[in-house]
Amino acid sequence: MREMKYSASELMELENEFGAHNYHPLPVVLEKGEGVFVWDVDGKRYFDFLSAYSAVNQGHCHPRIINTLIEQAHKLTLTSRAFFNSKLGVYEKFVTEYFDYDKVLPMNTGAEAVETAIKLCRKWAYEKKGIEENMAQIVVCENNFHGRTTTIISFSVDPDAFTHYGPYTPGFIVIPYNDTQALEKVLREQPNIAGFLVEPIQGEAGAYVPDDGYLRKCYEICKQHGVLFIADEVQTGIARTGELLACDYEDVHPDILILGKALSGGVYPVSAVLSSNEIMNVFHPGQHGSTFGGNPLAAAVAISALEVVRDENLAKNAFYLGDIFRREMRRLCKKSNVASFVRGKGLLNALVINNKEQKNLAWDICLKLLENGLLAKPTHTNIIRFAPPLVITEAQLMECVKIIEKTLLEFE
Ligand SMILES: Cc1ncc(COP(=O)(O)O)c(C=O)c1O
Repeated sequence: MREMKYSASELMELENEFGAHNYHPLPVVLEKGEGVFVWDVDGKRYFDFLSAYSAVNQGHCHPRIINTLIEQAHKLTLTSRAFFNSKLGVYEKFVTEYFDYDKVLPMNTGAEAVETAIKLCRKWAYEKKGIEENMAQIVVCENNFHGRTTTIISFSVDPDAFTHYGPYTPGFIVIPYNDTQALEKVLREQPNIAGFLVEPIQGEAGAYVPDDGYLRKCYEICKQHGVLFIADEVQTGIARTGELLACDYEDVHPDILILGKALSGGVYPVSAVLSSNEIMNVFHPGQHGSTFGGNPLAAAVAISALEVVRDENLAKNAFYLGDIFRREMRRLCKKSNVASFVRGKGLLNALVINNKEQKNLAWDICLKLLENGLLAKPTHTNIIRFAPPLVITEAQLMECVKIIEKTLLEFE
């Protein structure tokens, strides 16, 4: 069949007419990516400062990961877990050694991995901790984002995320983020707490970084009460924040670690839950699974994606360039009326926009950034997340700072 050539506006119209309207994309139609760059259908080049919500940490279409994908795709893609395959065990050994865990449970999307962690935590609570059946509670934080399943949105505080999806899954207690006293109180007062599920930095909330020592203190409180510390590093993990894991900043080794997104460098949905033998051994055949989870294509791709992170020192690069980026943004904020302040860690950063007078200012700034050759997206109404692929160079980053500076000036 001859491929029909559509214009950008026709392609947007197709999505608009035939796709559900569950997203509000910026008006740009991308067709090619390489490293920190993406190109639209008219050949215009942009710096990608979203990285598919931190899935493309290794840069778009990293040749090493793509070669692995192609090679493995020619051999074997999917067996289901009804049989062993020649890649899964190799990957499981690799990923558990890489993150220092006993066992991994492979899934596909971030939300599935979070669901897996919730099930794992509950099962452990009933079978190991001795909590009475159906009484287990998991403590979560306000302004969390852990995905879109019915159970996960049951403990969201974002009305867009939960409205009209009830009845909701019970068994979650929401406490304020960055509040160790609230955690201590709930663990002291409630007898049936199984786990504490937390993002080390709240990504979707707008790169909200908790106080230094927060994670360490939470971890210690959990230990004191025999509660599992579960870190959702789907967005913060795999070098994004300047360490391999954001928890590494505080020497915290979560009882359950949830990974996704950059585990495949953005070329394929790969997620994982990692834990100890003691915890993971509560799962027995038939009790949890996924047709695609642990497929040989995913396993091969994930090994390559993690090798790239290590061999190209991406955590170090994110750490170094993140400091420079925030320094530059602070400089811009000082002289800007529209940009208030910057926060973040490594290359997961957010610029907070003063939109008191103009409601859609952050969106309008993103439209202007797009025109000027940089892609970023507002999260909530007044926050612009800046999270480029971690392969970005210092020279490229400084070029992007210039684009942001020029763009902000247009709004003064
Ligand atoms: C912290 C966190 N957890 C889970 C998810 C869900 O991942 P997915 O969209 O792959 O289901 C996300 C997605 O943004 C996330 O940021």
